[in-house]
Amino acid sequence: MTHDLPYNGSASLDALLDAAVDAIIISDDEGTIVQFNSAAERLFGYAAADIIGQNLTTLMPPPDRNQHGQYMSRYLNSGQPAIIGIGREVTGLHASGRTVPVHLSVGEIKSGGRERFVGILRDLSEQKKYEAAVITLESQLAHADRLVALGELTAGMAHEINQPLTAIAAFSDAGARLIDNDNDAARTELKNICGRISQQARRAGDVIARLRRLSQKGELSKSSHDLQRLVQSALQLFDHEVRRSNAAIATHFNHRTKLVPVDEIQIQQVLVNLIKNSLDALAESATEPAQVHVHVEEEDEHLYIIVEDNGPGVDPENEPHLFEPFFTTKDHGVGLGLSICRNIAVAHGGNLRYKRSERGGARFTLSLPLTYIG
Ligand SMILES: Nc1ncnc2c1ncn2[C@@H]1O[C@H](COP(=O)(O)OP(=O)(O)OP(=O)(O)O)[C@@H](O)[C@H]1O
Ligand SMILES: [Mg+2]
Repeated sequence: MTHDLPYNGSASLDALLDAAVDAIIISDDEGTIVQFNSAAERLFGYAAADIIGQNLTTLMPPPDRNQHGQYMSRYLNSGQPAIIGIGREVTGLHASGRTVPVHLSVGEIKSGGRERFVGILRDLSEQKKYEAAVITLESQLAHADRLVALGELTAGMAHEINQPLTAIAAFSDAGARLIDNDNDAARTELKNICGRISQQARRAGDVIARLRRLSQKGELSKSSHDLQRLVQSALQLFDHEVRRSNAAIATHFNHRTKLVPVDEIQIQQVLVNLIKNSLDALAESATEPAQVHVHVEEEDEHLYIIVEDNGPGVDPENEPHLFEPFFTTKDHGVGLGLSICRNIAVAHGGNLRYKRSERGGARFTLSLPLTYIG
């Protein structure tokens, strides 16, 4: 909307502008600065007397600096605003040469029949600093959560590594006994044993590689991953726990898109947390047979990874709190698992939702929009 404002540089208008907390800059239709309030002086480091008469582009770093003239003439010719009445985040250029993140909203006024543009700017530096700190904290928290999950799986992992090591020891003993038998049968058997030793060593190495990957620190980094392999590799972390409990984990893959651009570690972290929650719930209930189903579905440009169990499910009165940090019903729970998982889902442009499973227990659905993540 265009307002007709008596703009005559009156003392009362100056006082009003200078009292404003936000930076206010008024320019004419060619972008020449005609008014620059005190907050603008503080934000940009210029004295009003020095900047008035200069073009707005002085306050902009490239590429906006070079394009501003085009934006303005496009608007004046077509009436199609790119920023007027909308407001958005832009980068300003301080007199010292450093850039400043600002929120800019632009209004249009008529003064003495002439077009004027009023820019209202708010410094976002502090807000950006907090946002960056929050992102770092979230990533540290996610890392800590992975370490906790790994800590809980360590006993099983130790067993997973111990098994191939025991096998390697037994094969080596058998090989040592054969070594003096200088005949073809012994040589063939020795070759066979060496093959098995190498296979078992690789198996132990794989377990360690999985552990190391999950314990890594890191920012969100999306690259293409085979979703089926990603899910299976997360499930392998539970091999031992599943064998020890009565629970079975079944997978159902029903998706067309094979390679999906996701952060492998983070999606595995979601799976580890959800499966762990299911196994915890099943361990506490006497459901027979205890089952966890992991489905991967694809529909309407979305991938859905569903983890569902036939345990007791979530008490309806707890449902609204499930994704709150530190909500737990477990004696030794931290209550961070689901809140971190939801953050990861949102960082991928998706979501994580709960609903009661038709199998009676809990059903968590991680949705990942293919259009967004692609
Ligand atoms: N599959 C499930 N079946 C039943 N209840 C569940 C299930 N998954 C989660 N919950 C409920 O949600 C709560 C929060 O889960 P969340 O994973 O956030 O924390 P936690 O498992 O208690 O602790 P941790 O931080 O160690 O994961 C659990 O304490 C439990 O009450
Ligand atoms: Mg949990």
